[in-house]
Amino acid sequence: MGELPRHVAVIMDGNGRWAQRRLLPRSAGHSAGLKRMIALSEYFFHRGVEVVTLYALSQENLSRSQEELAALFALFRTYFSGNVERLKKNDLRLEVIGELSLLPEDIQTLIGEGRERTKEGKKGTLVLAIAYGARQDVVRAVNEAVKAGKEVTMESFSALLSTGAYPPLDLLIRTGREKRLSNFLLYEAAYAELYFSDKMFPDFSDADAERALEDYMTRDRRYGKVKAEEG
Ligand code: FPP
Repeated sequence: MGELPRHVAVIMDGNGRWAQRRLLPRSAGHSAGLKRMIALSEYFFHRGVEVVTLYALSQENLSRSQEELAALFALFRTYFSGNVERLKKNDLRLEVIGELSLLPEDIQTLIGEGRERTKEGKKGTLVLAIAYGARQDVVRAVNEAVKAGKEVTMESFSALLSTGAYPPLDLLIRTGREKRLSNFLLYEAAYAELYFSDKMFPDFSDADAERALEDYMTRDRRYGKVKAEEG
């Protein structure tokens, strides 16, 4: 068996379909998703993963109905006002990536406070991607390099991305049956191992997460090189 991943990311897809199947509004799927998100991230940290990056809202998701966005924003408010203490108690650090200026101002403030209050967290980092887009992040980083008038290397460019401070992405999980990256961590995923689950996100249990970790540990990561001789 190989080693545990240091950095795991999850595309939490399928909340809407989970709700539709139960004849519930989409917002009920997001509430169930949030509950699962909290438990799942704690499971990964408990297993020793250092950084967990979760796709909570893409920039493209911002064009969803006012009703759905209001429900998501209400969840963000509940989460950032109620869960920061729990992260702090668990010695975890909260970070948020994405174009936060696109969010309501009170949520931006709550995010700032959450970051500040957990900045000493040492057991792991929870990174929420909100109003995030990978292409937008790459374009922003390119413009930053251009403004600084410096040619970039692969290393210096990675550092300009919003994930620049974290270890390389090892494992990218997507729930909800679709098999695409949907503008999430495109540059970072170059050599990540991909894991797709047919389960809708609220049904993706700790046992499913464990299966994903175990599957990852059987993978032979070669980064384009020839496999070393065994034995
Ligand atoms: C994708 O499912 C999920 C989202 C757009 C939102 C995910 C958000 C959460 C799990 C809660 C996050 C909360 C905080 C505080 C970070 P979908 O709606 O696209 O599902 P569908 O593909 O079945 O329609």
